[in-house]
Amino acid sequence: MANFKLNLFRSVYIFFELMEIVVVIGKPQVPCYFIFGDSLFDSGNNNELVTTARSNYLPYGTDFPQGVTGRFTNGRTIADLIGELLGFDEYIPTYATVTDQHISQGVNYASGGSGIREETGSHLGGRISLDRQLLNHYSIVSRLFHLQRNITFTRDYLSKCIYIVNIGSNDYINNYFKPDIYATSHMYTTNRYARRLVQQYSRQLKCLYNLGGRKIAIFGLGLIGCTPAEISTFGTEGRPCVKFINDAVKLFNNKLKPILDDLNAYNPDAKFTFINVTSISLQQGITRKMRLHASLFNIFHCLIALHMKWEDIHNFIYIHPVDFRYGVNKRSKLYIEVRWTMCTNYTY
Ligand SMILES: *[C@@H]1O[C@H](CO)[C@@H](O)[C@H](O)[C@H]1NC(C)=O
Ligand SMILES: *[C@@H]1O[C@H](CO)[C@@H](O)[C@H](O)[C@H]1NC(C)=O
Repeated sequence: MANFKLNLFRSVYIFFELMEIVVVIGKPQVPCYFIFGDSLFDSGNNNELVTTARSNYLPYGTDFPQGVTGRFTNGRTIADLIGELLGFDEYIPTYATVTDQHISQGVNYASGGSGIREETGSHLGGRISLDRQLLNHYSIVSRLFHLQRNITFTRDYLSKCIYIVNIGSNDYINNYFKPDIYATSHMYTTNRYARRLVQQYSRQLKCLYNLGGRKIAIFGLGLIGCTPAEISTFGTEGRPCVKFINDAVKLFNNKLKPILDDLNAYNPDAKFTFINVTSISLQQGITRKMRLHASLFNIFHCLIALHMKWEDIHNFIYIHPVDFRYGVNKRSKLYIEVRWTMCTNYTY
């Protein structure tokens, strides 16, 4: 697990290096920071939506200084962490709550359950798809132009911001691999689906560029097939993870990388950086721990409740490396205990 943390740090620093950012303690190294994505980065945009993809209740936020916020984790998200490393004193406000006074430092548009595709996650209820997140960004950018009253200044300003995007998991979990609800798996092979997704994503990233973004980091997808929810739904045939899901996700990641290379080639004044999440989460220990966790869950049939699924996804791919104020090993043990209690105490 220590390696895990180290690797996250290394990846984040490589990203900073690529962005030519020097991390020093003190004032923020960039004037602003914009966050797009799904529940991995959501910090409360879904709180007022009618959706099961919501997390503004305990035990979410148990380790977060502000407590429950709508973050789908016990503590900080990777987006929060990057913000801290960039030198921001405060967490970037959500689009749902931000005021004119604060928009110049950046906005968090991320929404749990959302995807690259508009229909993704619709069975969960309300969510803000990437297209609508971009629309929200358009309105913020327009506001900035209006407030700063100097087109040259605002353009320059927006080009210095950091933009991070982490989306696509739900296009698999809450779309393609829910064949009873969504048509995509009946229409496309995994290969064609990955190609379509990546093409749409590329247009969306170009839109972000058109709205002034120049330093853009794009997170690839993690090992979705290793989440207990997917393991319990599909089985693994003796393997630690659901292989066909990880294979599908790999196709997406492998196609995303060259598309970002193209975006860089066609837009030399911008830097689109691919963050390889798989290489971070493949580190030692994770798979074994997840398997243990999954088997506990299977025994107690705890996977019925949606929020447990979210917890799984977030704890086991992201949370451990995310919040490391505590010893990570100690922490992960604690987590199994917490979940255990939840499983036995909750009635569904
Ligand atoms: C607008 O901003 C640019 C760049 O910061 C600056 O050089 C210029 O003087 C500003 N124009 C006005 C009218 O303030
Ligand atoms: C990400 O990292 C993994 C593990 O190091 C590697 O196998 C994979 O090819 C990388 N993916 C991309 C798209 O570069």
